[in-house]
Amino acid sequence: MVQNKNWWQDKIAYQIYPRSFMDANGDGTGDLKGITQKLDYLKDLGVGIVWLSPVYRSPMDDGGYDISDYEDIDPLFGSMADMDELLREANKRGIKILMDLVINHCSDEHPWFKKALADPNSEEATYFYFVKSGKKPPNNWRSMFGGSAWEPVGDGRWYLHLFSKKQPDLNWENPVLREKLYKMVRFWLDKGLGGFRIDAIVHIKKQPGLPSGTPDGKDGMVGCFAFARNYPGIGDFLTELREQTFDRYPCVTVAEAAGVPNEQLGEYVGENGYFSTMFDFSYSEPYNYGHGWHTCKAPGEWDFRAWRDKMYASQLATQEIGYGTVFFENHDYPRAIQKFIPEKDHSPAVQKMLAQTYFYLRGMPFIYQGQELGMTNARFDSIDEINDISTKNHYKLALADGLSPEEAIVKVRRYSRDNARVPFPWDDSANGGFSPAGVKPWLRVHPDYQTVNAKAEQNDKNSVLSFYKEMVAIRTGKEYGKILRQGTFAPILKRCGKLIAYTRTCEECGRTLAVVASYSDKPRTLRLPFAVKRVVQSSAPLAPLSAPDTLSLAPYQSVLLEVQ
Ligand code: GLC
Repeated sequence: MVQNKNWWQDKIAYQIYPRSFMDANGDGTGDLKGITQKLDYLKDLGVGIVWLSPVYRSPMDDGGYDISDYEDIDPLFGSMADMDELLREANKRGIKILMDLVINHCSDEHPWFKKALADPNSEEATYFYFVKSGKKPPNNWRSMFGGSAWEPVGDGRWYLHLFSKKQPDLNWENPVLREKLYKMVRFWLDKGLGGFRIDAIVHIKKQPGLPSGTPDGKDGMVGCFAFARNYPGIGDFLTELREQTFDRYPCVTVAEAAGVPNEQLGEYVGENGYFSTMFDFSYSEPYNYGHGWHTCKAPGEWDFRAWRDKMYASQLATQEIGYGTVFFENHDYPRAIQKFIPEKDHSPAVQKMLAQTYFYLRGMPFIYQGQELGMTNARFDSIDEINDISTKNHYKLALADGLSPEEAIVKVRRYSRDNARVPFPWDDSANGGFSPAGVKPWLRVHPDYQTVNAKAEQNDKNSVLSFYKEMVAIRTGKEYGKILRQGTFAPILKRCGKLIAYTRTCEECGRTLAVVASYSDKPRTLRLPFAVKRVVQSSAPLAPLSAPDTLSLAPYQSVLLEVQ
């Protein structure tokens, strides 16, 4: 057993989407050398852990989440020597690198799959779910990106893909395959990696027999969650994975674990859980996808209280059994402000309020690249500007349901994952300093790069970036660090509408902090259940308190208080 397995709990984590962080070689795509060049920016921000979205060799059908060689770096991003250099340079700065571990599926261009296609009797054919099934797919499961989860290969066989058809699912029932995956995981950990963010891991167990289900849509298909998400028996695979790999290293593992019920959190992230920690998505998408983006609700239309209560429930359940993560953004979502706040109210001050809301919750905070600058959605004008496979599918779905291209692009603008994948704006020069002038970046630059960029915000003490730095300093500092790391979470003022308010109490040191964040577009005055000792941080200038327990907040204002 490794000593101090909780080393990661006092760190601030940062997610990099490598394709869009920094283009060092001027080919329009971000790369590993670019990340190494910018490590001092991350250190200055106070980051201790960096999660890299996939940089393995990949045809890039799903942004690298389709891997054709697990033990190589894609030439788009550089070489293995660049990766080794990044690890060395990050270590020097006290930053641990997490890679993305994508082992529910690989790419259809992986040699295993190519061999499996060429020879139905090969060992590799048993690494996947191939089923003989004439003209119709073996069952009616719908893939996560739309359409059937099965693809025919021309010889009567069909293969299962829960995501795109270029992402065939690996068959975890096969022990030979499992051992190959474990060996690959150890290969990376032996390089001194800090650990992994583990992709789509809740899908590795499928219901035996792969039965059809009752259709839930006009297409006659059924979402595959009931048959292939946290399916009973998955624990055997996850325990074996942990024992054969993670347990042997001082690493942290962060599972992408959507849909784990609170009653099962202990199995996942309890003392002897499969992972160190996980992402809980229960309050990430209050607008609810339903049948597609065009059926989602806009901020102000969905139920604020239900969203807030899910956040509270997640905090309360997790603190009983372990240490979670907290996040508002990642590469799979539009920018948080777009998810949670009506467009007419967007401003840098609102970005600060959103930041305060989640950053002081209990759990390891993740910042997604550009979030610390207060980036907004990218305002795409046409589907031709989109690269993301899931956006293209949602766009098609909207058209098929009768929306015009103009109506459909409005939804793309609101929900596309590419909103958060545009190049990182470093300064106000051409291409925001991401790629050299004259080079066309792989995805278009954000239209606001001349004002919303790292350089401008570094020089402005009122910027969103300066606010994030202050939050990191508070969260990791001597004065409040312990309370914010370990303190118990408790919701307060639950009867107030459009309000997120909670305390963090350190029983050991007898001190309490409170976050009060107003999501109302009107000013308001609140009676608190305690007296305020000190205003630690406010998202905007705060009106003087009229009494020790009476707080007046401007629209969308939030505060961090020390209270009695
Ligand atoms: C995860 C990733 C997402 C990807 C999917 C399939 O949800 O975060 O980007 O499309 O898995 O690998």
